[in-house]
Amino acid sequence: MDKRTILTTSTRGLLEDSFPYRLYQKAKRVGTWNPADIDFSQDQKDWQTMTAEQKEDILKLISMFQAGEEAVTLDLLPLMMAIAKEGRLEEEMFLTTFLFEEAKHTEFFRLVLNAIGETGDLSRFHSDTYKKIFYEILPETMARLVSDQSPEAVAEASVVYNMFVEGVMAETGYFSFYNSLETAGIMPGLLEGIGNLKRDESRHIGYGTFLLQRLICEHPHIYDLVTAKMGELAPMAIQINQEGIEGREVSSFGGDPDEVMNFTMKQLAVRMEVLGRAKGKKIEEIYKVSDSEIGIL
Ligand code: MN
Ligand code: FE2
Repeated sequence: MDKRTILTTSTRGLLEDSFPYRLYQKAKRVGTWNPADIDFSQDQKDWQTMTAEQKEDILKLISMFQAGEEAVTLDLLPLMMAIAKEGRLEEEMFLTTFLFEEAKHTEFFRLVLNAIGETGDLSRFHSDTYKKIFYEILPETMARLVSDQSPEAVAEASVVYNMFVEGVMAETGYFSFYNSLETAGIMPGLLEGIGNLKRDESRHIGYGTFLLQRLICEHPHIYDLVTAKMGELAPMAIQINQEGIEGREVSSFGGDPDEVMNFTMKQLAVRMEVLGRAKGKKIEEIYKVSDSEIGIL
């Protein structure tokens, strides 16, 4: 092991105006909502009034989120370890809030399921493509970091976790929740939580964007690796959308299923566009990036 250098008693101190430190400060200010404080009494009433098809669609979405949040809670640690090993203190300080928030997201969806009285096995909603992502690719890519902390391995992990699972899959899921429940004016507790989740996730995705931009800046060949990985994952997001639509022309809440697909396609393009901005930047510029430039809510 390398000899330890203590940062906070050195002249360096903490990099207080760096992006990861500012993100850590923001998480402490706005990331402290408590899932257990959300009132689900109206959601319970609304659930009784929904059609069987609507219930099935919402349960499917919740079951994918519930498993997804559990997976990201369990799979984040190897990334934190890799970052800590490199002595990137400000990044690790932010990551402590990241893991705390994923735990709260896992708690949140279970509270929703409890409130609507759902006690059955929901894994029937997990298709083969879903399982490929959350039961295989995500845990395997993250676990690789335990023994391999190369920039390539860290970049691949961040693409899978932050850009794809959070930046494309979860963002599409929020869109679907709003598209159905907000339009119908039902399940306010679920929507309140989704609003909080969405803000938390904007910081997680923002961190991943910073991390990948830093890696691309330090090792320019990483950009091609990132593009290739996103290209490999993209068809799975499209596939999961198609499974959600099930050939219907109108969703169970009356919306146009194409809107969800269009949103996914837009997310895929946006992620790559933002990462491309790292090319040719100086490392100091990456650390100075503002919240709004990186899309923090
Ligand atoms: Mn989450
Ligand atoms: Fe997250």
